[in-house]
Amino acid sequence: MSKVTVVGAGAVGATCAQVMAIREVADEIVLLDIKEGLSEGKMLDMFQASATMDFKTKLVGVTNDYKKSANSDVVIITSGIPRKPGMTREELIGTNANIVKSVVESVIKYSPKAIFLIVSNPMDTMTYLTLKATGLPKNRIIGMGGALDSSRFRCYLSKASGANIHDIEGMVIGGHGDTTMIPLVTKATIKGVPVTQFLSKKKLEQVAADTMVGGATLTGLLGTSAWYAPGAASSSVVESILKDQKRMIPCSCYLEGEYGQNDICIGVPAIIGKKGIEKIVKIDLTKEESEKFEASAAAVRKVNNILHEIKAI
Ligand code: 2OP
Repeated sequence: MSKVTVVGAGAVGATCAQVMAIREVADEIVLLDIKEGLSEGKMLDMFQASATMDFKTKLVGVTNDYKKSANSDVVIITSGIPRKPGMTREELIGTNANIVKSVVESVIKYSPKAIFLIVSNPMDTMTYLTLKATGLPKNRIIGMGGALDSSRFRCYLSKASGANIHDIEGMVIGGHGDTTMIPLVTKATIKGVPVTQFLSKKKLEQVAADTMVGGATLTGLLGTSAWYAPGAASSSVVESILKDQKRMIPCSCYLEGEYGQNDICIGVPAIIGKKGIEKIVKIDLTKEESEKFEASAAAVRKVNNILHEIKAI
């Protein structure tokens, strides 16, 4: 029996629960929120779709009752406020750090063996905060940003080239921020052939730029942050854990020397399986990519430092 708890029944949390239910990623999904009745309502609505959609996942909605999340294999943290148009993810730290800290402390009491997947923004810093607040081994704390950014990268590569999105491979590493993420253009392929053979330098620069503001574009259109792609990306990470798929997914991982960085959670390619982060994959970066990674890490670290200033860690 596998069990997943999603904390936060906002658009991202609920979409994540729905995608996991439809794909039968876990046997049981608990959705938990502080707002009275919200999780119960959303899970009942999803349950009412189960006959039509033909899924068997057990769905439980609870208001702030962490006992119901007990013995979860994976806990997804989506709590906190989303960004508004014009806001950066980093600006959310003051509000979200305290929320995320108190949530993970409650979760760990009932699910001491859980693997945490962090979605709340600023995602790399919230992942770092979770690691510090819980003291859990680094393989059990995963930030989902790279999974989402890579999916947006593949989407924009498909749009620009006209190629089928399923033939496109590509990864985004670095921080999950509009200026900190690094779409690895030199490594992206269409059916194994480098994208540089299909798209001009100028077009690829545009793809990278569109990817980096992929979330901000949606914030502008929707008035709040996105949920379909974030929910789906989160579900894909959980699926790789629970089905021990060992997919290579760029995720925010705690680094101890890898990529020349220490004491930071930031996006790098990782093998995700039943133990969580089973391996950080070291790939060769170009000089330009390495420089960007270093700058990205410095920017993430600057936000992490705020955790000390506000005494969250
Ligand atoms: C995004 O990029 C919510 O950070 C998330 O859409």
